[in-house]
Amino acid sequence: MRTFQSPPVNEKLAGEIQIIKNWISLSDQPLYLEIGCGVGFHPIQFAKKNPQFRLLAFERTSEKYLKAKQRFIGNGSLENLLIVHGDASFFLAELFLKNTPAIKLAGIFVLYPNPYPKKSQSNLRLAHMPLTLVLDQILEAHGTLTLASNKIDYISEARKFIPAKTSLKILSSRQVETSANPRTHFEKKYLARGEECFELIFSKN
Ligand SMILES: C[S@@+](CC[C@H](N)C(=O)[O-])C[C@H]1O[C@@H](n2cnc3c(N)ncnc32)[C@H](O)[C@@H]1O
Repeated sequence: MRTFQSPPVNEKLAGEIQIIKNWISLSDQPLYLEIGCGVGFHPIQFAKKNPQFRLLAFERTSEKYLKAKQRFIGNGSLENLLIVHGDASFFLAELFLKNTPAIKLAGIFVLYPNPYPKKSQSNLRLAHMPLTLVLDQILEAHGTLTLASNKIDYISEARKFIPAKTSLKILSSRQVETSANPRTHFEKKYLARGEECFELIFSKN
């Protein structure tokens, strides 16, 4: 896994980072992160069910972000949820590695990431992504990383390489039940088509 190169911070990004820092500083409730929240099903359900926690969710695709934002407003603009339009990798090092005192995350969700199945795309998959090293660093002790995918190869690769390259160990592994309430738009779509979905939860140390 290559080391993570933090992208340069321009004025626009610095402004967005400051807004997130201000939101983070409003409370000391345990903080969770979601990368690629799509149209917002999971972050809104999570924030409603867990008022004692906060969730910072990133979505880089404009159309999906706008749908997530509309859903967020439609659900009363939950105070414990911030949905940000942007690529999480542009923000995480600035928010969590360079901040003092360091803020650590209680948990991270990566639910149905783009599969990037080609060999040439391997460093875009969680098992080999340089960003995974940052995720490991910014999780608190016993913090969790939840990964879900409908691609068994993606899960198998993560199961093999993430514990080998980071301090994260497998806490649980399961197939998502078809009868369960889907957590995300993609989970709903895959389960409705009869596809198998899998979840791996890693824990730090
Ligand atoms: C297959 S979709 C799944 C969306 C949602 N989690 C769900 O299950 O419905 C993957 C999403 O992750 C977003 N994404 C991927 N990498 C990202 C990153 N580094 N930062 C923010 N969003 C990201 C993509 O834009 C895409 O919307």
